[in-house]
Amino acid sequence: ISLLPYHTFGAKVQAKEFTTVKSENELVKILKEQPKKFLLLGGGSNILFTQDFEGLIIKNEIPGFEVINETDDYVDIQIGAGENWHETVMKTVQKGWQGIENLALIPGTVGAAPIQNIGAYGVEAKDVILSVDFINHDNLEKTTFSKEECHFGYRNSIFKHDLKGKASITSIKIRLSKKWKFNTSYGAINDKILEKNIKELTPDSLANIIIEIRNSKLPDPKVIGNCGSFFKNPVVSKLEADKIISKFPNAPHYVIDENHTKIPAGWLIEQSGWKGKIKGNVGTYSKQALVLINNGGATGEEAWDLAMTIKRDVFTKFGIEIEPEVNII
Ligand code: EPU
Repeated sequence: ISLLPYHTFGAKVQAKEFTTVKSENELVKILKEQPKKFLLLGGGSNILFTQDFEGLIIKNEIPGFEVINETDDYVDIQIGAGENWHETVMKTVQKGWQGIENLALIPGTVGAAPIQNIGAYGVEAKDVILSVDFINHDNLEKTTFSKEECHFGYRNSIFKHDLKGKASITSIKIRLSKKWKFNTSYGAINDKILEKNIKELTPDSLANIIIEIRNSKLPDPKVIGNCGSFFKNPVVSKLEADKIISKFPNAPHYVIDENHTKIPAGWLIEQSGWKGKIKGNVGTYSKQALVLINNGGATGEEAWDLAMTIKRDVFTKFGIEIEPEVNII
C-alpha cells in the first residue's frame, strides 16, 4: 500500500502491510500477533521514509478528550494519542484554557508530541504534560510514565532513547491553566500584538497570532511536502560560539548556560548557501532554510542525500555537526 497519504513529505513509498487502530485494546491485540517488523505512525509529519517499509504500519487513531480533574485554577485532560494536535490546541483555547496556545499549527498527533517533546515560541509539550500512557512492547502491559520518568529535553525524551521502538503511546495527560500566563518572549509575537493593537491577550488570540507567524514562515505540508525542521538546533561550547560570533557578529544565538550556546541550524544552513536552493526534486524552503521540501516527485533517498550534503557543507564552513530532528526510516 502507498504511504503517500500517511506522511507529510510526500515521498512515493510503499508499506508491505497497513492497519489502523482505534483503541488501546485493538493495539494490544495486533502487537500480540507479534508482527516481525512494525511501525506505529501518527500524523507522519516528522518522518522521512528513505525506502519502502517491509513490515506493518500501524496508524494510531486512538481518540479521546476527557476532563479528568478541574479546579478554579486548572483543568487536567486526558487525550487520545490519535487526536490531531492542532485541533486539540484549538479546542482548548476556545474553552479559555491556557498552556498550549504557542504550539498551535504544529502538524501531527497528540501521541507524537511527547516523543520529541514538540516545541515552538518558547513553549514545549513538557511544560503541560503530567504523564504519558503507553503499551510496553516487551510485556504488552499498559504503563504510565510521569513527566519526570519521560526524561524530556530539547526535542528529546526517553521514547527516543531507552524506549525507542519499545513503546506505543496511547494517551497523554496534560494540565492547562485557567489563570492565564502567556509566553510572549519571541519578538515576532510582540510585533503581531502591536500590529494588531491587541490590548488583552486570550489563549485564542495568541493561538491565532502563532498561526499567522507559522503560516508566514513555514510551508503548508498539504501544498509543499516537508517534515518541519529537518535538523535540531545544535548546542555548542561557549568557546566555539564565541569564535563564530567574532567572525559573524550578527549570528543569532541563545545562551543555554555559562558553557553552552545554541546556534540556529537554519542560520548555519543559510550561511552555507543553502537557503531556498533546489537540487533536483528536493530543496530547502525559501523562507526557512531548516525545512527541507519536496519540490514534486521527490524520493526520501533524494531528501536524505541533500540533508547529508547540507550537513557536510555546514561542517566545512563552521565545524559544527548538525543532527537530523526527523525520524529517518
Ligand atoms: N534563521 C536564519 N535563516 C533561516 C532560518 C532561520 O537566519 O533560513 C535564523 C532566524 O533569523 C532566527 C533564528 O535562525 O534568528 C531562529 O529561527 P526561527 O525563529 O525560525 O526558529 P528555528 O530555531 O529555526 C525552532 C523550531 C521550530 C519552531 C521555531 C519557533 C527546532 C529544530 N525548530 O526553529 O520547530 O517552530 O523554533 O519556535 O527547534 C519543528 O520542530 O519542526 C519546528 C518547525
